[in-house]
Amino acid sequence: MVELLPSILSADFAHLADEVAAAERGGGTVVHVDVMDGHFVPNITLGPPVVKSLRKVTKLPLDCHLMIDNPNDYIPAFADSGADWVSVHYETCPHLHRTLELILHHGMKPGVVLNPATRVDLITEILPMVHHVLIMSVNPGFGGQEFIPFSLDKLQRLKQIRQELGLAFKIEVDGGVAHDTIAQVVQAGAELLVAGNAVFGAGKPERDARALLAAARTAAGEKPAGSSGRKTTPKSGKRRKIQ
Ligand code: DX5
Ligand code: ZN
Repeated sequence: MVELLPSILSADFAHLADEVAAAERGGGTVVHVDVMDGHFVPNITLGPPVVKSLRKVTKLPLDCHLMIDNPNDYIPAFADSGADWVSVHYETCPHLHRTLELILHHGMKPGVVLNPATRVDLITEILPMVHHVLIMSVNPGFGGQEFIPFSLDKLQRLKQIRQELGLAFKIEVDGGVAHDTIAQVVQAGAELLVAGNAVFGAGKPERDARALLAAARTAAGEKPAGSSGRKTTPKSGKRRKIQ
């Protein structure tokens, strides 16, 4: 089943609780939290204190996407703040096995993230340990960027490897997922669909989450459960070309 993960990166940070609640009403089932350090990626966002505050205002799982160097140093703090899922970039983890064990040890669900230029086949041995693999379909650091088309090949390759190995990890996609790309990512194998700008960019998170999820379910051949039957085509905020 496909799931929509609203990324709060594009939300109004002064009204996070309201924004998350609206995206949940629209069908979002996991909150995607982008953590950036200004080193691994050229942007700074938020950390454990904000996760702790979010934890108090939503029951949805918090999916923390760590775009930070030395993630091991911060995993205990994310666990204490109430994170449910933690994903780390392959590119930041020279000892990825140890990092995933640390996440598991702290009772969270571990994920591995691959940048656009990183090959899927590099993580085959580690796949039995992960709850999800996140394929970045933009270079991480900013919301509202254009989807990189070869990400579709990577999603398909990952799905093929999962089938060959008989594993059950979830396939997540992040970056440029919007009304014009969501059907393609679903058809390529993505199940956890992160969307920031397409959910929050136009200031109508409930409406736009609902429309995106309906499009994803249609592409997946699923029934548009919980849909009001209203058809809306969201007007997303403008995209920037930053890759
Ligand atoms: C980018 C972040 C994404 C971001 C996606 O580095 O990891 O989660 O919010 O934003 P959109 O959906 O706007 O491309
Ligand atoms: Zn993200």
